[in-house]
Amino acid sequence: MSDNSASYRVAIVTGAAAGIGAACSRRLAKQGVAVAVLDLDAERCADTVAAIRGAGGTALAVGADVADRASVKAAVAQVRETLGAISILVNNAGVTDFTPFEDVTDARWDFIYAVNVRGPFIMTQECLPDMKAAGWGRIVNISSSSAQTGATSMIPYSSSKGAVVTMTRSMAQEFGPYGITVNNIPPGSVMGTIMSEANRDRFQIPTEVLLQSVPVRRLGEPDDIANACAWLCHEDSGYVTGQTIGVNGGRVVS
Ligand SMILES: NC(=O)c1ccc[n+]([C@@H]2O[C@H](COP(=O)([O-])OP(=O)(O)OC[C@H]3O[C@@H](n4cnc5c(N)ncnc54)[C@H](O)[C@@H]3O)[C@@H](O)[C@H]2O)c1
Repeated sequence: MSDNSASYRVAIVTGAAAGIGAACSRRLAKQGVAVAVLDLDAERCADTVAAIRGAGGTALAVGADVADRASVKAAVAQVRETLGAISILVNNAGVTDFTPFEDVTDARWDFIYAVNVRGPFIMTQECLPDMKAAGWGRIVNISSSSAQTGATSMIPYSSSKGAVVTMTRSMAQEFGPYGITVNNIPPGSVMGTIMSEANRDRFQIPTEVLLQSVPVRRLGEPDDIANACAWLCHEDSGYVTGQTIGVNGGRVVS
């Protein structure tokens, strides 16, 4: 893949303090993109920003709650003013849940949907004008393999990620005429993130059992997702839109 630095690009990656979002931020920066590292508060983004700057890249820490319109508006304005118009958006921030269906409260349901569904909706709506003005844009939504397979005790989470997959398809059709592609990556089991380590502690499933369902016989790493994300944000992927790009070691095939 050729370097993308011929054009100046600015990305916002949400949920980028840790895990998959941090890896996507580092990988995009390596490809010459100036990256706004967005998470609930700017201080939490310090490590990701330091890693990017240490490698010679450009990064800005931004604090915002993706589910809150005013917070997102302020964050997007800060990025525009500091780095420039936004051309790439990675909607990665997400929250999970393992409540058996009959115990899920309305408040819990609404919280999961606010972050996982309303978040990408608000972020995309606020960044879209820049992409339309430029006639170029890349949006990558991080969904989940649970949206493809279903998952017990994960009904709010898996259904919210199903909404992300469908939102991707519809956005791709609506934004395509403006030179904007929209795709989603549903990760399988990605280790070394806050979310996956909490799940591992909770369920205590031995790694060898997890691996039985993964044909390549290893668990995913944040960089596996980041590499696919970087390609979807690159010039080279301009004819790919509305797609679900499974990065899961073959655990889910379609
Ligand atoms: N790790 C996995 O195995 C796995 C599998 C499938 C899908 N995913 C998805 O990948 C994405 C990243 O997961 P991860 O494992 O790196 O999780 P993580 O918990 O390590 O990181 C998520 C980040 O999102 C941030 N965040 C949460 N709510 C936010 C909000 N309202 N506004 C801004 N930031 C917010 C958190 O502070 C955190 O830094 C999520 O959307 C998750 O659903 C992960």
